[in-house]
Amino acid sequence: MNLYNIKHPEEQVTFSQAVRQGLGRDQGLFFPEVIPQLNNIDELLEVPLVERSQKILGALIGEELPKATLDEMVRNAFTFTAPLEKVEDNIYALELFHGPTLAFKDFGGRFMAQALAAVRGDGKITILTATSGDTGAAVAHAFYGLENINVVILYPKGKISPLQEKLFCTLGGNIRTVAINADFDACQALVKQAFDDAELRQTIGLNSANSINISRLLAQVCYYFEAVAQLPKEKRDNVVVSVPSGNFGNLTAGLIAKTLGLPIKRFVASTNANDTVPRYLKSGNWDPKTTVATLSNAMDVSRPNNWPRVEELFKRNGWNLTDLGSGMLTDAQTEETLKAMNAEGYVCEPHGAIAYQVLKAQLKASETGIFLCTAHPAKFKESVECILGIQLPLPEALDKHNQLPLLSDEMDNDFAQLRAYLLK
Ligand SMILES: Cc1ncc(COP(=O)(O)O)c(C=O)c1O
Repeated sequence: MNLYNIKHPEEQVTFSQAVRQGLGRDQGLFFPEVIPQLNNIDELLEVPLVERSQKILGALIGEELPKATLDEMVRNAFTFTAPLEKVEDNIYALELFHGPTLAFKDFGGRFMAQALAAVRGDGKITILTATSGDTGAAVAHAFYGLENINVVILYPKGKISPLQEKLFCTLGGNIRTVAINADFDACQALVKQAFDDAELRQTIGLNSANSINISRLLAQVCYYFEAVAQLPKEKRDNVVVSVPSGNFGNLTAGLIAKTLGLPIKRFVASTNANDTVPRYLKSGNWDPKTTVATLSNAMDVSRPNNWPRVEELFKRNGWNLTDLGSGMLTDAQTEETLKAMNAEGYVCEPHGAIAYQVLKAQLKASETGIFLCTAHPAKFKESVECILGIQLPLPEALDKHNQLPLLSDEMDNDFAQLRAYLLK
């Protein structure tokens, strides 16, 4: 697979290089030179998730990785299901939260970990990342147990929920977690300082598990196929998919699936009050405002960093951006939606609820709608319980970790200490 840097198309890399490097020159995003048209979609929709995903990723990545290697990567990464649940007559929820950290990030994160392990060459790798809660869990679980890859995760002591902390600070093995006596910004600054230290970078093979990495997006393509595969055959003709969007990686993956030939009529980009894209699609003006905090905090992004990939796909396919649906919900509307969904018997969380409501408002009678549920309701336990007035039982994955002792180290906001720790 060859990729080019959208900002500097003359910079071309292989899949392995793109996985190792993450970003191109000037922070440019890598983009596949060719996205093949698959001519066996009906057959693909008949086979199970893992087998189908091996074929899809094989077609995308090509011969750069031996088939047996890629097949094993997919088998190791996709160890859980993505069920499609009927919510109303013509509306379905694609539940992407049945992985170890109960969020859609498990698909991309786990595949990226496998990809990095496969293409890293000789020598050590240290993944260093800062987290304000959720990313740490996805990274820790994705890389847990991989040989010759050490993971160090920094988080602000006392500033993440006890449950979030238990989910990734109880693993041990190749995962070290450090509670920093400072806030999240300080954790991020420490990570940045480590990456600026050329000697350290070289000695321990520093790498970030950056969400911009192309391997994550390719993995996410697979669950769009899984959604359509689970639809009754008579409902597969006029499918509309609504994607709760922040950085727009998830929507990019859906558009790649459509480019490959998956029959999706159109997509809807659903956001919270950070609605740069819905406003842009209506007015043609790119006018990001200051980011505001919302109930759907993982989508509190006003400058979505995957947007250039979305535009590139529309341009290359000769599609018109006016065909991309969009809409936003305020927090008050999100609360109302969560209550209405609960009354209909479906407990959701704020991100999925936004995708549901924006879809419902735009869906025509002849269409079948799918909205993506990107996180388990229990991940947003406090707000969901408060809005709905119910108690949410802990899913098994969370409950298991909740019983285990914390293994974190503690450290002051001091780069010299962190440096010594990393070199240990
Ligand atoms: C629960 C949840 N929903 C939706 C999103 C938005 O996805 P994307 O950033 O790919 O648009 C995120 C991103 O972190 C998320 O964590």
